Amino acid sequence: MNDTAQLPSRAVGQRGWFARLRRWWRRQLDVPMVQLATPLEVVDLRHLVLRPGRPRESAVWSGDTDPETRHWTVIWAGEVVGVATVLARAEPTHLEHRWQLRGMAVAPDARGNRFGTALLERIAADVGEPMWCNARETAKPFYEHHGWLCPGEPFEIPRIGPHYRMFTPL
Ligand SMILES: CC(C)(COP(=O)(O)OP(=O)(O)OC[C@H]1O[C@@H](n2cnc3c(N)ncnc32)[C@H](O)[C@@H]1OP(=O)(O)O)[C@@H](O)C(=O)NCCC(=O)NCCS
Repeated sequence: MNDTAQLPSRAVGQRGWFARLRRWWRRQLDVPMVQLATPLEVVDLRHLVLRPGRPRESAVWSGDTDPETRHWTVIWAGEVVGVATVLARAEPTHLEHRWQLRGMAVAPDARGNRFGTALLERIAADVGEPMWCNARETAKPFYEHHGWLCPGEPFEIPRIGPHYRMFTPL
């Protein structure tokens, strides 16, 4: 376990009607921001969305603290509502795609607000080079919507489900 696994980050899952009402009100008054983040800031939402029911350590990934790895968050009303990570990992058969997008997640109650789009656009601008990802079957239409290409067949990632290898156009 590394430092990322041991430290807490900003809450993403306050419960109760009063907390929900307060969050709703604060969101009406705030402008969401996409920004560069630390590994620590992305782990809790990753855990909630992409590794539910598993230990928090399952959302701390090798490469998270590599020097070339970058993380982004969407912050809305003081909470992390979107996360994504890019690692310097070339796709084995498409070496020109040398950046892997991983851990793309928007909080369930924040979806449909174009935060996923805002993250992808910011990441594309920051990285500026071709990227690839293993897209969940359920997220494949989202990436296609943004022009990502899917040349291959689905494959299974154990305990998670069917995925597609997807690429930004060259
Ligand atoms: C996929 C995800 C990141 C999209 O985030 P989001 O903020 O809700 O997406 P946006 O609001 O930016 O959606 C942009 C467009 O894509 C569409 N879209 C979003 N998610 C979609 C999906 N799963 N399937 C089909 N279309 C989708 C939206 O309808 C919207 O279309 P529009 O521009 O015509 O209105 C989010 O649904 C999520 O976190 N899903 C669970 C985790 C996951 O699967 N992550 C990807 C791992 S590979």
